[in-house]
Amino acid sequence: MPTIRTSDEFDRIGQVGEGTYGSVYKAKDRLTSELVAMKKIRLTHEKEGFPITAIREIKLLRDMDHENVVKLKEVVSTKETTHNKGKGSIYIVFEFMDHDLMGLMDTAKMDFKVEQIKCFTKQLLAGLHYCHKRGIMHRDIKGSNLLINNAGILKLGDFGLSRSFNEKDIQYRYTNRVVTLWYRPPELLLGAVVYSEKIDMWGVGCIMAELLIQRPLFPGKNEKDQMEKVFAICGTPNETVWPGCSNLPYFNMVQGKEALPDRLQHHLSKHQGKVSTAASDLLCKLLHMDPTKRMSAGDALDHDWFWTDPMPCDPSCLPRYPSSHEFVTKKRRQEGKEMPGAQPGGQPDAKRHQPAHNNHSNSKGAPPAARPSEAGKGGDRHGGKGHAGHERAPANGSWRPR
Ligand SMILES: Nc1ncnc2c1ncn2[C@@H]1O[C@H](COP(=O)(O)OP(=O)(O)OP(=O)(O)O)[C@@H](O)[C@H]1O
Ligand SMILES: [Mg+2]
Repeated sequence: MPTIRTSDEFDRIGQVGEGTYGSVYKAKDRLTSELVAMKKIRLTHEKEGFPITAIREIKLLRDMDHENVVKLKEVVSTKETTHNKGKGSIYIVFEFMDHDLMGLMDTAKMDFKVEQIKCFTKQLLAGLHYCHKRGIMHRDIKGSNLLINNAGILKLGDFGLSRSFNEKDIQYRYTNRVVTLWYRPPELLLGAVVYSEKIDMWGVGCIMAELLIQRPLFPGKNEKDQMEKVFAICGTPNETVWPGCSNLPYFNMVQGKEALPDRLQHHLSKHQGKVSTAASDLLCKLLHMDPTKRMSAGDALDHDWFWTDPMPCDPSCLPRYPSSHEFVTKKRRQEGKEMPGAQPGGQPDAKRHQPAHNNHSNSKGAPPAARPSEAGKGGDRHGGKGHAGHERAPANGSWRPR
């Protein structure tokens, strides 16, 4: 049986992330001298046991092997001492990645060339295509979960909300409480519990647009505002563009309101410098309201945008940046803001836009989706039975704001 190494075989260099269940550290493996990222799984909530998110992340990543998916190297534990009396920590050890996309957007001041944006988007699609082919949906596509190293390779990280899906059981009910608000697709906003891997493709559209237009596409303040922002640009959903949408739990939020037209193409045309006709076409296909018509990762990789000038640059040609993780850049910005005369700058932050409560009313009697203050990490983070039936969602509403 392989032995589990202990965390004192690693030299901690510094903190690069703050996760739901613990912190992420940059460290050096003393045995191999390799740099690693160690995600600490805190085991202080004994009643909850070993967090389901960590179990999923380990189980799913253990079997994955793709250039655009982060590599899980091993799981290590703290040495048992008289101090921790068996209440030590477990760490998931990953290959170290110099940046996450959110941090990099901040460091690079969002100023990426189109060929660089194509290079990032292509790698994101390749990673997702691999996951979806293996029957895994990520369910939390956003900048801080896309890891990039100094060789320009982008990898999908944070599989804590991911789960496998079965294409043969298209009526399976999942928890609705997934995906960070700004990247959440309309079917989840309207309360769907039957959904597919296409939820990830909406997130790709949002990220690609954000890189091109240099600001978040749908920066909602809460779930209602998120819906309004999406519908103001993509049009109000109806049975013609999206058959079946009127059966979704929160469709009543749409009814009785002025029907808005699809203005996405028009909205994107304001950024013609970077958003070419091909880019706009791809974005419209990724941001299709009806998930069944939304483009798949495999088809998106074949889209003209990736095969017309400027062609995606080679990852090795991406400029080198100082190491940038959201946790660090956000802290730097906050410290800067506290200094007299400092300019607030950088990437808007979803976590700073969480209101106290949402305004969902729901005629079908189902509980509302994640409260805005909980928007983001879903029910799987904690125990308790949620409304999705087959998946566990929190009972205590104690989710961390995102
Ligand atoms: N392999 C890695 N190399 C370098 N940094 C990493 C790595 N994995 C994670 N990080 C950093 O730590 C942050 C948090 O990690 P991760 O998203 O996996 O944890 P989490 O518990 O899901 O956090 P959150 O709940 O905030 O999403 C990431 O956004 C990233 O900046
Ligand atoms: Mg994360």
